[in-house]
Amino acid sequence: MTNKKLNRALSIAPMLDWTDRHYRYFARLMSANTVLYTEMVTTGAIIHGQGDYLAYNEEEHPVALQLGGSNPKDLATCAKLAFERGYDEINLNVGCPSDRVQNGRFGACLMGEPQLVAECVDAMKQVADIPVTVKTRIGIDEQDSYQFLTDFVDSVKAVGCDTFIVHARKAWLQGLSPKENREIPELNYERVYQLKRDYADLNISINGGVKTLEDSLTHLEQLDGVMIGREAYQNPYLLAKVDQIIYGDDKPVITREQVIEQMMPYIEQHLAQGGRLNHITRHMIGLFQGLPGSRGWRRHLSENAHKAGAGVSVIWDAVARMELSRPPADVTFYPNNNL
Ligand SMILES: Cc1cc2nc3c(=O)[nH]c(=O)nc-3n(C[C@H](O)[C@H](O)[C@H](O)COP(=O)(O)O)c2cc1C
Repeated sequence: MTNKKLNRALSIAPMLDWTDRHYRYFARLMSANTVLYTEMVTTGAIIHGQGDYLAYNEEEHPVALQLGGSNPKDLATCAKLAFERGYDEINLNVGCPSDRVQNGRFGACLMGEPQLVAECVDAMKQVADIPVTVKTRIGIDEQDSYQFLTDFVDSVKAVGCDTFIVHARKAWLQGLSPKENREIPELNYERVYQLKRDYADLNISINGGVKTLEDSLTHLEQLDGVMIGREAYQNPYLLAKVDQIIYGDDKPVITREQVIEQMMPYIEQHLAQGGRLNHITRHMIGLFQGLPGSRGWRRHLSENAHKAGAGVSVIWDAVARMELSRPPADVTFYPNNNL
């Protein structure tokens, strides 16, 4: 187990149901450096659940576990387990506004309880010798002043937390769905820049609405990191140039064809263990996003990968379904699909 040094210049956001370990394996093929966050896992699931909620593939490093909870003792129990399992970072969710999460008194509503968050972070830091970080919003409800944000940061910083990931919009705790809470409250990037100017010693990543590596570079002029969520899922090939553009690596950019080929052994192993094809391919649907003909790929996967007994040939058939009139330079396998 390796705890690779973390460079959070670019990271992929925790996204429930989306950034599971299959997605993370797929993402890692495209970028060696991007820090990958798990979906939020609640302390209740880890402590009382039946499954192994901490399972991940070794290839995923550097990988951060996002925890949801607000009981310092439970969080410490989970943080210790995560540390022992080799996670590179533990992140506390102080940004999710869903009702279910609020009933458990965690997520975004914790912004209103900075002392409790500090206790939680402190408890985790005591038992896990890896970074313990916080993902938060810029405010909640009417509490959206800069002072509110800095009071929160001051409290959590006081127990030694030096890394904050800030979703640059506030959350309304009532009346909006989680999806609306990712769209309706306005983005305020300047507020996050201001935070970094005032807390130069903290490592601050910005999150919210970032869609390109060019925009990421612009944010990086002011900040330590950029966290990308939806775009990294819906258009995952975005990650293929992260190592070169963001981390300055000098290596060839992986092609889409290579990504598919390198997924194959992983998928075959999953199938051999009785897994379903679509549990993995659902994360690959966006691989050709934006290319003419990608509809055929998406449609074939969506219609066939869930069927009992579906094997890897479904993936190559989906490639063949793409109606590319002018294949892009890196798609060498179309229209010759003798694969
Ligand atoms: C499907 C989905 C699930 C999400 N689940 C989580 C989660 O488990 N924990 C969390 O902190 N944020 C979660 N988020 C919020 C994202 O981490 C991110 O903050 C938000 O999408 C804004 O970034 P973006 O504009 O780049 O997508 C989720 C977002 C989506 C779309």
